[in-house]
Amino acid sequence: MIVKQNFFITFEGGEGAGKSTQAKLLAEFLEGGGFPCQLTREPGGSAGAEEIRNLVVKGDVARWDVMTEALLMFAARRDHLIKTVWPALKEGKTVICDRFSDSTMAYQGFGYADRGLGQETIEKMYQIVVGDFKPDLTIILDMPVESGVSRALKRDANVNRYEKMGLDFHHNLREAFLKIEKNEPDRCVVINADRSIEEISSDIISVVRARLLKAQS
Ligand code: TMP
Repeated sequence: MIVKQNFFITFEGGEGAGKSTQAKLLAEFLEGGGFPCQLTREPGGSAGAEEIRNLVVKGDVARWDVMTEALLMFAARRDHLIKTVWPALKEGKTVICDRFSDSTMAYQGFGYADRGLGQETIEKMYQIVVGDFKPDLTIILDMPVESGVSRALKRDANVNRYEKMGLDFHHNLREAFLKIEKNEPDRCVVINADRSIEEISSDIISVVRARLLKAQS
């Protein structure tokens, strides 16, 4: 039997939910089981996309209008896919990505409430830029907005633009991520991130075992 190793797994969620830590722990677990992994992030993950990242995460809150911001995210994504994600998958690696398109849906689609681009526009942009490719599994780390934002503010010496947005913005994000999971339960799973690192990691590993590894054994 051919065992598939080149999964594309994404981590999503609001600020301060612990995505980077959990992405790293999952990569360690999979590497330990003989699955070569590429850990990466968005916006970023390739030289060009990291340059675009600086444009979107730094500076004034109102620096970009929301469509410009979404276009920058998709430009970074296209470069990241072409230079990093697709080559790694082709080499047989599992790619674990800290944020992907669900962040664009949540932040640029719904975070800004009335000014948000909404689901249809983001989906159209996705179809043009990315096509039919999508994650095999998306882990959405969910936690109360107030705890996540305060964790993010404590952690980051250089607070990013999004961490400076008001609490309403962050509530909209949380709702948007939960709605994404409701719309696509086969691809997405919501994990309670308001617990210890070990508890969260153990749940993530169970989900990966059940949904990706057991599915092929
Ligand atoms: P990070 O700090 O979680 O790495 O992500 C940088 C910021 O970029 C984060 O606040 C969320 C934001 N972002 C978007 O607004 N849209 C997107 O499509 C992505 C990938 C990230």
